[in-house]
Amino acid sequence: MNGRRVLLGVTGGIAAYKAAALASRLVQAGAILDVVLTADALRFVGAATFAALARRPVHTSLWERVEEIPHITLAREAEVVAIVPATANTIAKLALGIADDLLTNVVLATRAPLVVAPAMNTAMLEHDATRAHIATLRARGAEIVEPEIGFLAEREHGAGRLAGEDALVAAIEHALLRTNELAGERVLITAGPTREPIDPVRFLSNASSGTQGIELAREALARGAEVDLVLGPTSLEPPAGARTARVTTAREMDDAVRERAANATIAIATAAVADWRPATTHAHKVKKTDEPQSLALERNPDILANLGAQKNGLFLVGFAAETEALETSAREKLVRKQLDAIAVNDVGGERGFGAGPNALVLLWGVHGRKDLGAGSKRELAVRLWDAIVELKAERR
Ligand code: CTP
Repeated sequence: MNGRRVLLGVTGGIAAYKAAALASRLVQAGAILDVVLTADALRFVGAATFAALARRPVHTSLWERVEEIPHITLAREAEVVAIVPATANTIAKLALGIADDLLTNVVLATRAPLVVAPAMNTAMLEHDATRAHIATLRARGAEIVEPEIGFLAEREHGAGRLAGEDALVAAIEHALLRTNELAGERVLITAGPTREPIDPVRFLSNASSGTQGIELAREALARGAEVDLVLGPTSLEPPAGARTARVTTAREMDDAVRERAANATIAIATAAVADWRPATTHAHKVKKTDEPQSLALERNPDILANLGAQKNGLFLVGFAAETEALETSAREKLVRKQLDAIAVNDVGGERGFGAGPNALVLLWGVHGRKDLGAGSKRELAVRLWDAIVELKAERR
């Protein structure tokens, strides 16, 4: 943490006093600490405590030193923003993008990773509104440091007590570690479905939304990589900061990937590429007749296998969408397509396609296996990058 810029946001819960001990820990670990206190936090703790611990001015208002535009300066300088403790009110505002004080403005303006440590009464924590807002923040990539079960200020025993100091420090360290982890890497990602036209108004395609690839691109950018995203037809927006090539057919995707592959150091193929295309595409809309019809198909290029055949130092990760014998089929693809690792995705049930939750297992080598568990595609993108970085480091 030495020399890293940590912004500690303190909101108005009873646990605010514990943020002072955390501030001391962070300073002792070498962090340069900026502290932002909300108006309600100031009812529980004094700004002087944090100023003395951080040996820096503490920030409490949007309207002090306006000429410095404090929320933008703080937002840009922070390498991580940690909100400890986070009240239900602040969590709700962050989830909705409300910016009505210095801290919420900083969070909206920063590109740094966000660590949120909720602390509140059990009923407030378990309220559907709070749970939904926490889920929103998590899906957006925030690291939530789960509160503990224990003695609460209202003299009850229950969930909602601020997480312990070690867990808070570990979460901040993990967020900092991620920040520049992929600096210098050039990441190429394929995502989304492809569309193979039959005539001007009809096509063959599949249910892929591109979500997993887009989240992997977002996370790679957050970790400092340069990202090329080759994206099939989807209504989703690619992340700002990625160089995105929009394509429609498998052959267009193949061309776009070939153009970009020589430059890449890591490639991840999440696209659900149509394996077949109609042998002929009709120039005009096909009219219906009463005759039985058949559709002749021809093979599309295997984009990932082509990358594997000439990878030249490229670290190559595939995805396997399976409905049966998941890991056996995936290991076969790992070898056949000459991959460094493959993420297996069970698309048989509710999971797999679309914006909903997913579950992944990463396989490599002969026996290498890591269960990345279940979660949103945002969470899985974080875990998959953690695993890829670890694996790539082992290969060196
Ligand atoms: N893939 C690709 N080009 C294709 C087909 C697949 O790049 N024409 C990539 C996918 O992006 C994914 C991996 O290959 O990373 C595996 O895709 P999957 O559809 O599971 O495997 P297939 O090779 O198509 O095998 P099968 O359909 O027989 O299961």
